[in-house]
Amino acid sequence: MTELSTMPTVRSSLLDPPAEYDKLREEQPVTRVRFPNGSAGWLVTRFEEGSAVFADPRMSARRPRHDTPPDEGYDPEKPGGALDPGFVFMDEPDHGRYRKLLAGRFTPKSVRTTLQPYIDTIVAEHLDAIAAGPRPVDLIEALALPIPCLVICELLGVPYSDRDGFHHATETMMDTSRTQAERDKGARWLIGYITDLVAAKRADPESTGLLADLVRTADDEASFLTDRDLVNIGALLLFAGHDTTMSMIGLSSLTLLTHPEQRRRLAEDPSRIGPAIEELLRYLTIVQFGLGRVAKEDLELGGQQIAKGDLVVVAMPAANRDPRVFTDPDALDLDRKTVRHLAFGYGVHQCLGQNIARAELMTILPELLRRFPDMRLAVPAEEVPMDVHGTNYGVRKLMVTW
Ligand code: HEM
Repeated sequence: MTELSTMPTVRSSLLDPPAEYDKLREEQPVTRVRFPNGSAGWLVTRFEEGSAVFADPRMSARRPRHDTPPDEGYDPEKPGGALDPGFVFMDEPDHGRYRKLLAGRFTPKSVRTTLQPYIDTIVAEHLDAIAAGPRPVDLIEALALPIPCLVICELLGVPYSDRDGFHHATETMMDTSRTQAERDKGARWLIGYITDLVAAKRADPESTGLLADLVRTADDEASFLTDRDLVNIGALLLFAGHDTTMSMIGLSSLTLLTHPEQRRRLAEDPSRIGPAIEELLRYLTIVQFGLGRVAKEDLELGGQQIAKGDLVVVAMPAANRDPRVFTDPDALDLDRKTVRHLAFGYGVHQCLGQNIARAELMTILPELLRRFPDMRLAVPAEEVPMDVHGTNYGVRKLMVTW
C-alpha cells in the first residue's frame, strides 16, 4: 500500500495558504490524504468541486474532526467533544428547523435596522479612544476583539463584562494544537456559562436579546426547542459570532497595512468597500483547515469514487485561489468585479452570521482608513505574531502607530 500524502497545513507566507495546494489543485483536485489527526479521507482543492460538496444533499454535515492532532481523548462519535455542535452538524430536515427559527434575525435588513446604529456608535467610540490613547497600540485588543464581542453580546443579550471568560473559553476550544481534554475544558466553561444565562433569562420576564426570545419560544408547549438546544445555540452563536470576525478584522487591517497601493485607492474611494470586503474574505479565507462532510452513499466527485462513510474536506483557502474562477488568484485585488467565494461556506449551512460580519467590516475599515491615513505597523510584518493553530487563522497582536 502506498503511503498517503498529508494534508498541507503550513503556510507559504503570512497571507497565503500552503504552497502545496497549487500542485494538488492542478494535478489531484480531489485526492486521498491523511489529515492532521491521522485519519484518512479526501481533500478537495478546486472551487467547482468544493461548491459541489457543500451543495450535495448526499453529503452529511455530521462529520468527525480532521484538523486536530492525534489524540486518545478524541471520540469520532462526539466530534465536538464536550460541546454538542448542534444544528451546524445536522442534515435536512432537522437542520432547517433550527435555521428557520434564527434566520430572520440575521438578514441584511434585520442587521441594518437592529444592529447597524449600535455598530456605528461603538466603532466611533473605539476609534476615538485609539486616537486619544498612547502609541503604538494593539489593534486586536483595542478594536478587532471588542467590536465583535460587543455586537454578539448586544444581539444575544449577554453581559459584555463576561467577555474575558467567553473569549478565553473560545480560544481554547478553537486551538487545534491543544488536546481534546484541554479543548473540552473551554467547552465545559462555555456550556456552564450559557446554562446559567438561560436560567437567568427564564427567571426574568423582562429579559431582552435573542437568547431571551429563544427561551420564551422554548417555553411554548408547541415548540420543539429543548433546553439543550438553547445551550447549544447560545454557545455556538457566542463563539462563532466573535472569534471569526475578530480574525477577519485583524487580518484585513494587516493586509491593508501591507498593501499600501491598494489601501490608498480604497481610502480615496470608500464607495468600493463592499466588493473590497468580498475580496478580503476570498483572499484571506480564515477557516484555514477547511470544512468536512461525510458521504452518505457511494458517489463520484471530480473523477474519483467516494465511498459511503468517507470524509471529504473542502480546503476553502485553496478553492478560493482557483485560477479557473479568479484571474491572478494569488493577488489581492480590491477592484475585483465579481467576487463569489467560499469563505462563508456554501449551501444550506452557509454562514448564518455573514451579514453581521460584513456590517462590522464595512463600518470599521473605511473609518480606520479615513481617520488614520498614516497608520503603519510598529513592527516588521514578519514579526507580527499569528494564530497559526486556530481553526480561524488570525493575528494575535497587531501593534500599529501613526
Ligand atoms: C468573517 C466572519 C465569519 C466567517 C469567515 C464565518 C465562516 C463560517 C463558515 C465557513 C460556516 C459554514 C460551516 C459549515 O458549512 O459547516 C459558518 C457557519 C456559521 N456561522 Fe459563521 N463565519 C463568520 C461570522 C459569523 C458570525 C458573526 C456569526 C454569528 C453572529 C456566525 C455564525 C455562524 C453559524 C450559526 C453557522 C452555522 C450555520 C448553519 O450550519 O446553518 N458566523 N460560518
